[in-house]
Amino acid sequence: MTGKVFTVAQHKGGAGKTTLSAQLAAALDQDGARVLVVDVDPQGSLTEWHKIRSQNLGRKNSITLFQTQGWKMVRELPRIQREFDYVVVDTPPHAESESSIAIRLADLVLMPMQPSPLDVWAAAPTLKLILQEKKPLMLVMNRVPPKSKLNETIKDKLDAMNIQVAKTTLGNRVAFASSIMQGLGVGEFDPRGTAADEMAALLKEIKKHKAFKETGRAA
Ligand SMILES: Nc1ncnc2c1ncn2[C@@H]1O[C@H](COP(=O)(O)OP(=O)(O)OP(=O)(O)O)[C@@H](O)[C@H]1O
Ligand SMILES: [Mg+2]
Repeated sequence: MTGKVFTVAQHKGGAGKTTLSAQLAAALDQDGARVLVVDVDPQGSLTEWHKIRSQNLGRKNSITLFQTQGWKMVRELPRIQREFDYVVVDTPPHAESESSIAIRLADLVLMPMQPSPLDVWAAAPTLKLILQEKKPLMLVMNRVPPKSKLNETIKDKLDAMNIQVAKTTLGNRVAFASSIMQGLGVGEFDPRGTAADEMAALLKEIKKHKAFKETGRAA
């Protein structure tokens, strides 16, 4: 069985790609899945997270890291992904070719987006790539302020564009950043916290996506 690939992509810098990649990988790992994280961003932030994780957890770190770039990824990933249930690919901002290759390999593209009109506009190049590749997309609203009218306006705008938006949103929470600093996910860092609840709800929603139905591994 071949691991399903989540590509986390968003043209806009700082939208939360690496945060979502690490949090998703940690949540899947906690769920008992065999998880591979792939860092195609030369910034290497996900690699750094994984390095700290290995230092802190030692042999208990069961997430595997794979660093690759460009077309090499197309050749190498199918070989290595067989050993895993899920593959989470973190992509760089403003890198058309890296992102389009990673999107091409995806079973589901996850796009973090902060609820601001500027972020909706800046997502256009990534949305174009996803459409070109005919890949399923789930948009994840990130750093969402509580009960803002803007959240609803943005959600309506995305609905009008026929974009699937996850019902679960991620708030602007210290735990999302603090856990990363320790190489952890929020479910490991503060299992009773709101951030952990949000990640658990998001994972449940993602696993129910039709892109995963045929494996029998979902839900
Ligand atoms: N839900 C959140 N709550 C609090 N802080 C967050 C949240 N999501 C992201 N951040 C913070 O926002 C900043 C940008 O996040 P991150 O590095 O994940 O974005 P990115 O899209 O990967 O950036 P780049 O485009 O540079 O790769 C980081 O400082 C991160 O800790
Ligand atoms: Mg990043």
